[in-house]
Amino acid sequence: MNKSAFIKRFNDIFGKGDHRLFFSPGRINLIGEHIDYNGGYVFPCAITLGTYALARLRSDREVHLFSENFEEKGVITFSLDQLAYRKEDGWTNYPKGVLASLIQRGAAINLGLDILYRGNIPNQAGLSSSASIELLTGVILEKMYHLDIDRLELVKIGQEVENNFIHVNSGIMDQFAVGMGQRDTAMLLDCKTLSYERVPLVLGEYEIVIMNTNKRRELADSKYNERRAECEEALKALQTKLAIHELCDLTEARFEANQSLIENETVRRRARHVVTENARTIKAAEALKKGDLKTFGAFMNRSHQSLRDDYEVTGKELDTLVETAWKQEGVLGARMTGAGFGGCAIAIVHRDRAQSFIEAVGRIYRSEIGYDASFYVAEVGDGSKAIEEEEEIQS
Ligand code: GLA
Repeated sequence: MNKSAFIKRFNDIFGKGDHRLFFSPGRINLIGEHIDYNGGYVFPCAITLGTYALARLRSDREVHLFSENFEEKGVITFSLDQLAYRKEDGWTNYPKGVLASLIQRGAAINLGLDILYRGNIPNQAGLSSSASIELLTGVILEKMYHLDIDRLELVKIGQEVENNFIHVNSGIMDQFAVGMGQRDTAMLLDCKTLSYERVPLVLGEYEIVIMNTNKRRELADSKYNERRAECEEALKALQTKLAIHELCDLTEARFEANQSLIENETVRRRARHVVTENARTIKAAEALKKGDLKTFGAFMNRSHQSLRDDYEVTGKELDTLVETAWKQEGVLGARMTGAGFGGCAIAIVHRDRAQSFIEAVGRIYRSEIGYDASFYVAEVGDGSKAIEEEEEIQS
């Protein structure tokens, strides 16, 4: 990221003057998949790939937005008095939704803004570029208008925008990871209470390699909603006998003893994934806290198997990456991350083996799938923030 070129771009588009720089990360989830909307534990962290923005207040009530990731759309303009969702406004619906939500909550936002965005999260990779833009915009508004707003509140606003403005029915994990992230730290989040614990990510000689299927995530939203509906169906069936509020209220033993309440075999498997994954996440975090990376990796592998066989959200591309990764030397564990149906997987790989790992998995993926996967070594970074003048940009 070249800061002076970014500033020049801002000046070229919006004219010379003051500006402030902001950053918001993407995320990976280490384990705890399809758990956030079932009231259990997830274990994500923020990464240094993310979205940058330069922003300046205007003297009128107009908002002018430009993204280098959507050059062809040019500057998209709307007024603070017209903050309804409009399909043709494309990506700017995310910032617009955040503005609308804050204003609705009574924030004193009376002047418009110019904002230039630049993201380096690969497109459609399932690394939460939308949560990154939501929280980035939230922090821009917080700082530019001197709003007194709790970070967790901004996280909730991000999810509310996703659910009620964009109409994607996602849980809280992505916005939480992006908004609350801290360098070299993962967060064990209880999605039921939003209480969380920060766990140092001490990987020693190992590193996290992100493997991108580069598969277009078509149908992903409808499949995601289908899984949510199946979980609700499972919960209803279990509630005919059990006093539970969410699937993750069940221990594995209690689920085993009562699973016959769920008649539909597919729905039963969905619930089994949720209950076992929740238990795995807690145990995996414990292992990591003890520095037992081997056990942590083994839980990652089981998580992937459960997502493949019981929850059925992996698909050929993710399975090829992960199953090939399992066979490589120096790998402690690998699994898909995020919603699935394409997107990315992660692997814990010995530093000295990372290059040969990437070459081998890349070669096999290409021959099996017919196009290339992409690989990035993940660095675990901070959550959304303003970047002060003197601060260096990491990537
Ligand atoms: C997507 C959603 C999250 C979560 C994951 C699956 O990333 O946005 O809320 O449900 O899928 O764990």
